[in-house]
Amino acid sequence: MRTALCERLGIDFPVIQAPIGGASGPELAAAVSGAGGLGSISLTGHRADAVRERIEVVRRRTDRPFVANFILSYAIEEAFAAALAARAPIVSLFWGDPRPWAPRVHDAGALLMVTVGSVEEAGSAVAAGADVIVAQGWEAGGHVRGSVATLALVPAVVDAVAPVPVIAAGGIADGRGLAAALALGAGAAWIGTRFVAAAEAGVHPLYREAVLAAAAADTHYSRLYDGTWPDAPGRVLRNTTVAAWEAAGCPAPGARPGEGEVVARDAEGPIHRYDAVTPRPDIVGDIEAMSLWAGQGVGLVRRQQPAAAIVAELVAEARAAMLLGGRLAGGSSAPV
Ligand SMILES: Cc1cc2nc3c(=O)[nH]c(=O)nc-3n(C[C@H](O)[C@H](O)[C@H](O)COP(=O)(O)O)c2cc1C
Repeated sequence: MRTALCERLGIDFPVIQAPIGGASGPELAAAVSGAGGLGSISLTGHRADAVRERIEVVRRRTDRPFVANFILSYAIEEAFAAALAARAPIVSLFWGDPRPWAPRVHDAGALLMVTVGSVEEAGSAVAAGADVIVAQGWEAGGHVRGSVATLALVPAVVDAVAPVPVIAAGGIADGRGLAAALALGAGAAWIGTRFVAAAEAGVHPLYREAVLAAAAADTHYSRLYDGTWPDAPGRVLRNTTVAAWEAAGCPAPGARPGEGEVVARDAEGPIHRYDAVTPRPDIVGDIEAMSLWAGQGVGLVRRQQPAAAIVAELVAEARAAMLLGGRLAGGSSAPV
């Protein structure tokens, strides 16, 4: 199952492990890339030596390509420069203007992916020099860029930016979703929530358990978790923090229940109730109350698996779904 984009990226399968914040460390990325997909590491906020170390760990484990991801709402200069110096083969940017960064990515010989949430943003990203567009639909987990669902967004972006390749993101959690993404004209799928449940993901066990237990309707979209990243909507699992805020009538920042309260800690210090922090294994405290990022595909995520098994299962399921589609196209009836 190799698309033209797979050829261009040097991967075997059109399965991309999306950057999932602190959960996407080098172990997860290397496991996905080593299995023939494309893994990514989130490097936002890291010091140069930590960036070099993460890239070295990926390279020690696999010689396949990987993605270095940055969120443009934060100060990324040190980490970005270190990733380019370490010759990261693919750079991905999210949430901001790619224009100041694009020429530096190309000068370093890397490929630039930009995640967008609308047709308009896709056009601007291509004009800025993006080599590949990631079209993220509204059902996605984590921070959500636009307001249109994946099924409507992806083909519209494909048409708008052709021949620039497009990757589909948001709500894709099994091989049927992968097959659908390819049918929409995407060259690959960008999958976040499913990989939160991967054995190699750097997530707190309570967060992973919450993901495994949740149904699609258990997600909540709002600007609630605005600490460290203000005014950016995202999708999380409903929890006691969301419930208390809703019970209080959804008050504005400054007047929310437990505002400023410390709910957890890591080596850097306190984590406050409304901070946008992915619950990592090193965090101690009330994990349930934190930002439990998840997309609507969460109901399809049922068990913890090694990342390589997730890649293999997605590909096998997508093949089966495409064979079924082929039979229907040939006029045969489908089993119901
Ligand atoms: C836990 C979590 C953390 C995320 N952190 C980042 C990030 O650091 N950088 C980024 O570009 N996108 C981030 N995202 C968004 C994903 O890259 C991707 O667009 C999204 O997960 C796709 O939707 P899905 O979760 O339904 O698969 C995050 C998503 C999740 C679930």
